[in-house]
Amino acid sequence: MKTSEIRRKFLDFFVQNEHQEVSSSSLVPGNDPTLLFTNAGMVPFKDVFLGDEQRNYTRATSSQRCVRAGGKHNDLENVGYTARHHTFFEMLGNFSFGDYFKREAIRFAWTFLTEELNLPKEKLWITVFLDDDEAADIWINEIGIDPARLSRLGEKDNFWSMGDTGPCGPCSEIFYDHGEHVPGGPPGSEGEDLDRYIEIWNIVFMQFNQDANGVRTPLPKPSVDTGMGVERIAAIMQGVHSNYEIDIFQHLIKAAATLCGSTDLENKSLRVIADHIRSCSFLITDGVVPSNEGRGYVLRRIIRRAVRHGNKLGVQGAFFNQLVSALGEVMGDAYPELIELKAHIEKVLLLEEEQFAKTLVNGMKILEGAIESLEGDIIDGETVFKLYDTYGFPLDLTADIARERDLNIDEAGFDVAMQKQKETAKAAGKFSAVSSQKLDIAGATEFTGYDGLSNQALVTGLAVDGELVEKLNEGQSGVIVLDQTAFYAESGGQAGDKGQIISKSSVFEVEDCIKQGELHLHFGQVVSGEFNASDRVNCNVYSSKRQATALHHSATHLLHAALRKVLGAHVQQKGSLVNEHRLRFDFSHLEAITPEELQKIEDMVNEQVLANTEISTQIMDIEAAKESGAMALFGEKYADDVRVLNMGVNDFSVELCGGIHAKRTGDIGLISIISESGIAAGVRRLEAVAGKAAMKKVQRSEADLSKIASIFKASNEEALNKVEQSQAKQKQLEKEIERLKSKLASSAGSDMASQAEKVGGVSILLAKVEGIDSKALRELVDQLKNKLGKSCVVVASVMAEDKIQICAGVSKDLIGQVKAGELVNQVATKVGGKGGGKPDLAMAGGSNVEALSNALEDAKSWLVQTLS
Ligand code: ALA
Repeated sequence: MKTSEIRRKFLDFFVQNEHQEVSSSSLVPGNDPTLLFTNAGMVPFKDVFLGDEQRNYTRATSSQRCVRAGGKHNDLENVGYTARHHTFFEMLGNFSFGDYFKREAIRFAWTFLTEELNLPKEKLWITVFLDDDEAADIWINEIGIDPARLSRLGEKDNFWSMGDTGPCGPCSEIFYDHGEHVPGGPPGSEGEDLDRYIEIWNIVFMQFNQDANGVRTPLPKPSVDTGMGVERIAAIMQGVHSNYEIDIFQHLIKAAATLCGSTDLENKSLRVIADHIRSCSFLITDGVVPSNEGRGYVLRRIIRRAVRHGNKLGVQGAFFNQLVSALGEVMGDAYPELIELKAHIEKVLLLEEEQFAKTLVNGMKILEGAIESLEGDIIDGETVFKLYDTYGFPLDLTADIARERDLNIDEAGFDVAMQKQKETAKAAGKFSAVSSQKLDIAGATEFTGYDGLSNQALVTGLAVDGELVEKLNEGQSGVIVLDQTAFYAESGGQAGDKGQIISKSSVFEVEDCIKQGELHLHFGQVVSGEFNASDRVNCNVYSSKRQATALHHSATHLLHAALRKVLGAHVQQKGSLVNEHRLRFDFSHLEAITPEELQKIEDMVNEQVLANTEISTQIMDIEAAKESGAMALFGEKYADDVRVLNMGVNDFSVELCGGIHAKRTGDIGLISIISESGIAAGVRRLEAVAGKAAMKKVQRSEADLSKIASIFKASNEEALNKVEQSQAKQKQLEKEIERLKSKLASSAGSDMASQAEKVGGVSILLAKVEGIDSKALRELVDQLKNKLGKSCVVVASVMAEDKIQICAGVSKDLIGQVKAGELVNQVATKVGGKGGGKPDLAMAGGSNVEALSNALEDAKSWLVQTLS
């Protein structure tokens, strides 16, 4: 059975059992700073387990892409060494959110394995948590498992948690016995880590939420989270033992072997490469780019590990990026983005391969040297750090190489070296900490401002400096919380509204509005009167600011869509800021946008503005929205019902968004791009203005142009021509100056030659001149040498009060006796400088003009002595 068929069969089985099929989320978890990557099928449902989020279903099933490299669940170092570990894998799962619990979860798993897939029952082994009598009872007495094939294990094996914090609970695992021909023992025995008994399905009985101190509080409702690795079950169904023998991996391994010129398909390095092309491609698809921190660094580590294994197989040059097509061939059906973004993925990989190639060979030499002179079996921390810091060898890469030679690395020593460097860096920089204080207030503020700018409301809370108060007095700055508000709170990059909150004769000037959970906090100052808890108030949002912000927000959507159309579907939003003055949009793209592309993007969005179509908003089910092609933010978590913004001709832009927008595209008036720049590896930034701000920008440019034109005494139309002419003229004049300078130097040279003295058949000349730059000075010394024949020449040119250029020349027949470098330094070291060059011509600088004459005298004496 093909991997794709297994995936489908699993999902269908659970859909038939009333589960909602949910598509795979991004590998970058939404709004969850506690987690590096989506590392299990339950990650997108974390808040549902915790009771913080409601969905309109209580049973779900998914095939979720997962990465386990970095963070709590990290399998990177096992890849290539076992038959079953991967950096990237797909997890099939079924979930119950307070619906069914242990009995049904166990039954579902058993039925699927033994009836749908027809796995022989006697090959399945079970584990449960130590004191979980209930689960053990279900397995033995209801399912009929032989107690000899059931073991009870402790926290390490049978208690699962997502990370250091979050939902967790005891679990029950199902193992498959691959048979006697594979070494290993059943779960709980000594050989359990070998490859004979392989865990295929984990059923977690989610019962607790673990906080940062390790304290576990019960979840609102006992739930179920299960996970079965697609690759492991595929190995069983395809009658092979190792995951690397399944269809998908065989295809990738063969492609890698061809590229690497390798014929041994069992080679571990080929497995590593086949594994890594999957994680790297999927991470890039989800918007991660190689960098030196966080997720980007994990990606960098994986790519570099793959490149090193290629290098080990003897590959010269970049190869890894060429595997993306093979991956598309086997996984493109299930993940069309692999095909759509192929060129982008290849480019990201190629750049990283090229960058690492520059240091890999030299780094390997250093490492080989260290290994050769090693006494004992531990590579010292300093060397490991040097490889990391100077040669870009991630720690685990060096560890991987060490492991191949039965060596270890001194991680503690590495940490010390790293710490030392950090402290130095810290001492050089300045750090500031921004503290954010959370208001101790519950409830929610209803937002009424999509259509209106004013409303009536009740004050539900007042605060000053993070503390709740009963009253805000005149002149006091603080926060007002209301039961409902027309003020938009900063979110999705859109700035909060400004305006006034008015109660009888009291006025509160709202300077910003931000969210705390479901509450809108109105920040500002009481301009007159006072505000008390439970006051009835009126909200008035400043309409021109709101309107200007809305236009910039709509313009951002149009730009986002145009960027994808012009540059490609790899463009993903990385950040956004929208306010009344301008918009800023950060997105993934590898190189600078050309002026032509930029023009095309600007034209495209303004065409949409001119088309003046209605901007529509629709509330939809998230799955329907995604199906309709609405752009969702990677890493953003959405509720079941989402707001979909549609603007432009033929659905030019369809995006999920909770922000405020113009009514028609024509309201935007004009979009004008201000700048395009790079802000991090693979991330570009576009800034633009819309509406009145765009009009002002155009007017300013016009005014500047008029000023330039008037300087050149030309009309606006002629100005560019005039500037170009003037530039050409300036270039010509600069050339003329150059020519005159060298002519001057040459005539000075003729005069100076006559000042040369003879010392035993050698002409020596040490002279001082004014204002001859280094190029002309060199020419002058060359000329003097030619003219004087067998000679030593030093000319020092005083360029400014504290700047001297010195040039020394020695004719070829004398360089055995005197080197120009030595000669020039005889002078330079005495005037506060140093220099060097070739034996017959050397240059130096200096600063002490006063000491120059004496320095030249001394150098002359030295020269006379050296020559005699
Ligand atoms: N979340 C569980 C696991 O990843 C099912 O093993």
